[in-house]
Amino acid sequence: MNISRREFLMLTAGAVACGSLNVIASDGPAQTVDAGPAGNFAADGVYDTYKDLGFFIVRRGGQLFALSSICTHRNVTLKAQSDCSFYCKRHGSTFAPNGHVTQGPAKRNLPVLATSINASGHLLVNIPAV
Ligand code: FES
Repeated sequence: MNISRREFLMLTAGAVACGSLNVIASDGPAQTVDAGPAGNFAADGVYDTYKDLGFFIVRRGGQLFALSSICTHRNVTLKAQSDCSFYCKRHGSTFAPNGHVTQGPAKRNLPVLATSINASGHLLVNIPAV
């Protein structure tokens, strides 16, 4: 299933507008990752292909977004769970599917990374400089 650029923008704008997600901005140079055709992420769930690059792709409730895969406690790569939540093996923090902390020691929610769709319909994810 392919989604149009317009549909994608509406989905991500809706996610931000509802206030359930945090979009981060980068002050420095950012890396952009081409995650391939946006239609590859048509089914609800967490796609962890790019977790080692710093993000999960999540489709949930009509929303498609990129969520940081880095624990906000001490920068450890998270593991996606079967219920679409996230777990940090280092100290046990957990995060809800929308990135909100559900158990510490992490105190900050996972940020949503800026995304866009290019002319070829590919999902581009901007990773802020570290
Ligand atoms: S590094 Fe993730 S809980 Fe400490």
